[in-house]
Amino acid sequence: MNASSERFAKSQEYFERAARVIPGGIYGSKSPGFLVPGHFPYYLSSASGCRIKDVDGNEFIDYLCGYGSQIVGYGNPEVDRRALAQIAVGDLLNQPHPVMVELAERLVGSVSGMDWAVFSKNGSDMTTLATSLAMAETGKQIVIAAEDAYHGATNWCSSNVFPVFASEEQRNIAYFQYNDIAGLEALFARHRGKIACVILTPYHHPTFKPQLMPSPDFFPTVERLCATEGAYFIMDDIRANYRLDAAGSHVRFDAHPQMVTMGKAMANGYPLSVLLGTKDLAVTASGFFITGTYWMSGAPMLAAMATLDEIERLGGVPRLEKLGAILKEGLESLGAAAGFGARVSGPLAIPYLTFDEDPNLYFNQRFCAAMADRGIFIHPHHNWFISLALTEKDLEITLDAARGSFAQMAAERQSFRAGPPR
Ligand SMILES: Cc1ncc(COP(=O)(O)O)c(C=O)c1O
Repeated sequence: MNASSERFAKSQEYFERAARVIPGGIYGSKSPGFLVPGHFPYYLSSASGCRIKDVDGNEFIDYLCGYGSQIVGYGNPEVDRRALAQIAVGDLLNQPHPVMVELAERLVGSVSGMDWAVFSKNGSDMTTLATSLAMAETGKQIVIAAEDAYHGATNWCSSNVFPVFASEEQRNIAYFQYNDIAGLEALFARHRGKIACVILTPYHHPTFKPQLMPSPDFFPTVERLCATEGAYFIMDDIRANYRLDAAGSHVRFDAHPQMVTMGKAMANGYPLSVLLGTKDLAVTASGFFITGTYWMSGAPMLAAMATLDEIERLGGVPRLEKLGAILKEGLESLGAAAGFGARVSGPLAIPYLTFDEDPNLYFNQRFCAAMADRGIFIHPHHNWFISLALTEKDLEITLDAARGSFAQMAAERQSFRAGPPR
């Protein structure tokens, strides 16, 4: 056994057992294949604040935040108190808990431009419902989306390559490059009279690539084209919600969608997602059979109310951005000092690091592996998330680890140049 396999011995053991009874062992985006084997744990057992612990007892400062869900920190006492009190007296009942009304009122009151809300569990549930509603309302079938954008794992937007999924639903999605106004105009011209909606994220967060903010004329163009076509503009805010603007990320960019989807951070890890929409869609929405066995459980909705209170109490977006700015400036300057063009892209509260001249992301993998070896969990291929549980002290520890990691990479640089396959 080498040092890294000793460090993750139990993770390895569980993974070998899993491979016998679970296809792929760990499937989807959590597959160890997306991380750097030997440097990251496969199984985590507990977490608190901004720290996660794996089954072998290794601890990490975490910058993935349960893929964004933990905005006020793992085990936030106030969120847990309110959710667990409800669990103790009954969470999933035959009829909704009254908190559903209070949460809908609160979100309609706080998310700009929205008049109604319906709840489910996953982001994919809501992006699917939003596009379906747009189709039903317009009687049209084409959905316009950005290349490399992620809207979930249901068939219409899935990246599954099996030919059987190249169904009508997938053929009706027309893609353009995020921010490419001429490309979008061309799509509208090509599909005129057939377009139900445009679904976009508030900024572009493709996997494996630097993140991209919207250009100033992007959303105004989307809105103009949608208005002319009679198509709906859906803002998929599932990844970014509450980290760009408490009133919805569209407010940050002065955009005016008719539907907004949220999930992830909205209940700090308790399963909950929401679709919000404007008045003109309410009648069609009320005619939809919107349901799921677990969709109306009360505890996650109480957690969502508590999460909103805690975000406010802990300083909200300005605090997230202050922490994110320290991380960005620290990583970029430490990278430069070690001779690397390390860039942090995207919003300050949702950063992602890439290296100049690193087409196959080998530097990314080496850096994230070196950080994981030093107790910092950052993902080489997926954007990171800042949480309000993070402190300046945690950032100091993180940047110390980064100094060591860049120095290690500088020392290894010659072998990278010879090593990585192109
Ligand atoms: C922008 C966006 N939309 C939709 C989804 C799907 O959400 P879920 O994984 O909860 O189904 C995600 C998940 O990462 C997302 O980032």
